Amino acid sequence: MIITVTMNPAIDKTAEVDELVIGGVNRLKNIRIDEGGKGINVSKTLRVLNKPNMAMGFIGGNLGDTVRTKLQKQMIMADFVAIAGETRCNLKVHSEFGMTEFNEPGPNITPGELQDLFGRITRHAKSGTLFVLSGSAPAGVPDDTYKKMTELLHQCGCKVFLDTSGALLRSGVEAVPDYVKPNLKELMELYGVKTKFETSEEIIEFAKEKAKDLNSKGIKFVAVSLGSDGAVFCDSYDNIHVPAKKIEVKSRVGAGDAMTAAIAYCLDSNMYFRDIVRYAMAVSAAACMTEGSQSPTKETIVQLLRQE
Ligand SMILES: Nc1ncnc2c1ncn2[C@@H]1O[C@H](COP(=O)(O)OP(=O)(O)OP(=O)(O)O)[C@@H](O)[C@H]1O
Ligand SMILES: [Mg+2]
Repeated sequence: MIITVTMNPAIDKTAEVDELVIGGVNRLKNIRIDEGGKGINVSKTLRVLNKPNMAMGFIGGNLGDTVRTKLQKQMIMADFVAIAGETRCNLKVHSEFGMTEFNEPGPNITPGELQDLFGRITRHAKSGTLFVLSGSAPAGVPDDTYKKMTELLHQCGCKVFLDTSGALLRSGVEAVPDYVKPNLKELMELYGVKTKFETSEEIIEFAKEKAKDLNSKGIKFVAVSLGSDGAVFCDSYDNIHVPAKKIEVKSRVGAGDAMTAAIAYCLDSNMYFRDIVRYAMAVSAAACMTEGSQSPTKETIVQLLRQE
């Protein structure tokens, strides 16, 4: 069983304008409403991979209800804490300038609501369950929350996959999650590296070195996603770089979440290292081939897996 935790879900409203008028009225067209937030994206990709899973986290208000209904329609189980605040809406407007995003900060979480989430997680923390802790945290959630969740889940015999950034990642890594998937920026932040890399070779060398370091600290599987430079995968036996697939990219949004889902799926199914790598690359590439933050399609994933 895989359970995803999204502390800061969102409704993503994607729309287009012919011409973006700054300081004036913009008429939106082709409006799409998708449930989003990193763990929820992981849940949706797991569903595409035919993996039953459950989504947890915080939701509130009318938009929270929309998230719940949309997950239900996709047959994704859910156990969210109903909070007093409102789930945020992120508006993404496609125009002649590319994508302009207006992101809300999200609600405030009270100590009682956070405690409620920990209680629910404990109830679902059956030995052997894989928890994917994903994304940022809303206001009111302390930076060491993923660290505490990881410690709790390990006590219950669960596995933890951490995919987050900044202080949440730094603190979370101290509890030695089983699996992590930072992107290049997140890895640089984690190690306090500010220098700009000149070449892809330098980036790959840095990613391999730090992936090995994280693995030697006890993290069993480390993936570092490098966007169009591909990804590095490291466990106790292997530490390899794989170039990105040559594809027609529609949107990179959510490619990392799709990769996290693919790796979680494979690890939960006890697959071999080389197959984890194949799935991670195919599913993340397939995510790049869909519009906006939409999940990859099964057809594209199968096609990309067959190409090798
Ligand atoms: N231009 C591209 N061409 C082919 N594959 C790509 C491209 N961009 C991303 N990918 C694939 O998607 C993976 C994840 O991308 P990226 O490193 O951008 O993740 P991320 O920054 O974590 O994204 P997210 O916004 O979902 O958190 C890459 O390792 C690669 O396999
Ligand atoms: Mg990411």
